[in-house]
Amino acid sequence: MKALILTGGFGTRLRPLSCTRPKILFPIVNKPLLQWTLERLAKNNVNEAIMAVNYQTEVAIKQHRIPRHGLHVTYSRDPLRKPLGTGGPIKKAEKRIGHDSHFLVLNGDIFADVNYTEILRTHQKKDAVATIALHRVEDPSRYGVAELAKDSRIKRFIEKAPRETAPSDLINAGVYALSPEIFKYIPKGRAVSIEYEVFPKLAEEGVLYGYAYDDLWRDIGKPEDYLEINRTLINSAITQPRCRIGKDTKLNEPTAFDKQVSVGRESVIGPHVVLGQNVTVGNNVHIQDSVILSGTAVSDFASIDGAIIGEGVYIGENTKIGRGCIIGDHAKIKDNTVLTERVSICPAKEISESVLTSKCIT
Ligand code: GDD
Ligand code: MG
Repeated sequence: MKALILTGGFGTRLRPLSCTRPKILFPIVNKPLLQWTLERLAKNNVNEAIMAVNYQTEVAIKQHRIPRHGLHVTYSRDPLRKPLGTGGPIKKAEKRIGHDSHFLVLNGDIFADVNYTEILRTHQKKDAVATIALHRVEDPSRYGVAELAKDSRIKRFIEKAPRETAPSDLINAGVYALSPEIFKYIPKGRAVSIEYEVFPKLAEEGVLYGYAYDDLWRDIGKPEDYLEINRTLINSAITQPRCRIGKDTKLNEPTAFDKQVSVGRESVIGPHVVLGQNVTVGNNVHIQDSVILSGTAVSDFASIDGAIIGEGVYIGENTKIGRGCIIGDHAKIKDNTVLTERVSICPAKEISESVLTSKCIT
């Protein structure tokens, strides 16, 4: 069984952290999103994952050396400066996928606890060309929406319909089971949107089906969604041994620490704090509801609440970082600086003055 993972898009809403890493490599409780996906594929007897990438994503994924769990991982690259969209990469991989069997296509930027075996089974039973995993959300306007008939057939598929006109609250969860006939519906050699160009046509022809599921689903595209998926999965993480916790420091669980984390004296960490590998936290520090990526140093008397802090960042003494702040990799926040709510700092930037309004410092 093969799965194609779409991962050539650009995560604009998670900037500035997405300037330096594709969304598929964002860690969720210290494990890259791609690793969660590969583990789930391996568990469902998929043996080959084809990564539909652009050049930068391919390089970044290879650098990360993610465990493969027995999967054969290959790369199918979009032409340089010519992204193929969400359908084009499927057509491009036609030979590699072959015509012998059904296969899976996954949006790489979402966390979707879909039972792949089940969706494939449903797909085969219905003799569908495509079966889309569907999930219920409150506001479907950012997604593709499906209108279902009684037999799970999708009568209509509309991408990014305004909330008022959306025919249902069942959205495209970004997991598809496809039959080889799908290749006939995707033109060759150009960018194709499967959501705008292919799914509506399949719906019209009566060969598009839905597989509604209730388990965990999250698009990590927005900072608050990213923090939330970390909060949700934090309980499943094991705090690594070899972390050093100083005297009189209080850990308000749940927290998740990766290898070689050290926290000084009299600090209060948690609840809902994820610390990446080699993060060092000083004395009298307060951190809650935040994700801090590997190699970052937080100095004494700092306070961090509801923020996402990148890799190798330096947070100076007596700094205060508020809700919704995102600090890019290798930035330096100097001593006594306050960043109020929703301040974004670009990678490698040095900040020596407080920022008291929400903005992006480039
Ligand atoms: N190789 C390649 N080339 N991959 C691409 C390209 C491209 O040109 N463009 C997008 N992708 C990948 C993205 O990296 C992502 O994993 C997936 O295709 C979907 O693209 P997004 O750009 O993230 O689309 P979206 O989030 O606006 O909407 C899609 O996802 C929703 C669920 O999160 C649609 O499929 C919606 O219908 C769906 O509800
Ligand atoms: Mg997306």
